[in-house]
Amino acid sequence: MNEALRVRVARIAREAEDILSYELVAEDGGTLAAFEAGAHLDVRIPGKESTLRSYSLCNDPEETHRYVIAVQRDARGRGGSRAMHERVHEGDVLVVSPPRNDFPLLFARGYVLVAGGIGVTPLLSMARQLQRTGLPYTMYYCARAPERAAFRELLSMPPFADHVRFHFDGGDPDKGLDVSGLLSTRAPGTRLYCCGPAGLMKAVRDASARHRWPWEKVHFESFGADGVGALATREDTDFEVTIRSTGQVLSVPKGQSVLNVLRRNGLRVTSDCEAGSCGTCVTRVCEGEPEHRDSFFQQEPAGNQRMLICVSRARSKRLVLDL
Ligand code: FES
Repeated sequence: MNEALRVRVARIAREAEDILSYELVAEDGGTLAAFEAGAHLDVRIPGKESTLRSYSLCNDPEETHRYVIAVQRDARGRGGSRAMHERVHEGDVLVVSPPRNDFPLLFARGYVLVAGGIGVTPLLSMARQLQRTGLPYTMYYCARAPERAAFRELLSMPPFADHVRFHFDGGDPDKGLDVSGLLSTRAPGTRLYCCGPAGLMKAVRDASARHRWPWEKVHFESFGADGVGALATREDTDFEVTIRSTGQVLSVPKGQSVLNVLRRNGLRVTSDCEAGSCGTCVTRVCEGEPEHRDSFFQQEPAGNQRMLICVSRARSKRLVLDL
């Protein structure tokens, strides 16, 4: 991790079932680097020193005396969230990256924020900023049950209460939020931000396309295999993708997935979860070395011959894809 920061855990609080928040302050008590709504920290996991996990910041970006992250314990994850819950205590020092933002809050005349579970964290930071700047927004916050919705009490009180609609589905997908109905109308100039589990993000992606939301007004932050973080969980670099059949060369910038770049350039590619968990977008790699960031190939290493283009990136400067 370049430019690592050392922060002290000033406070740990239980925010919901299996969800703890961590208030982090500079080890020397000084001011922290500023961040913008939507930003995350890469945290070096104690006891697993080579492991980094990204956690979105959920406090107000105006604050420079602390960073607040929230971590949902995922018993089926790769162990990062378990280690955070079990090994980190108040007073401990953690090593983190400076804040990075792949999910920035761009200017709009109004905002729709769709949160699923722990995906509320970057959207909470956005809501705090929107509250301060007075720009109109509505947050739709989906969770299985009230006791599993982090920050529910905070979001049920002024100044947030008038802007937040909770939706509890009891774990039954048939009782999920009516995303299609929600996105069937759009006030001009509205932006849509969504962070949550793969199923919710797919529903939002499909519905926003069906109801012709301009793609540049629709923003997603996807979870990694540990239920946290972003597409850019490690230090992203730009790279190039060559389409084998046509020789077309496309640039994949930091913060963009290969899948999105291909689509924006008119290529038809099949996907489903868009979070690296279903395997639908698997693509053969003819040249170059992919950097796998999916959870699908955890058990059966994918090697250099194939990759999931919704989340994985490149270790080499160029990949040639069999498309
Ligand atoms: S679309 Fe599911 S793994 Fe890529």
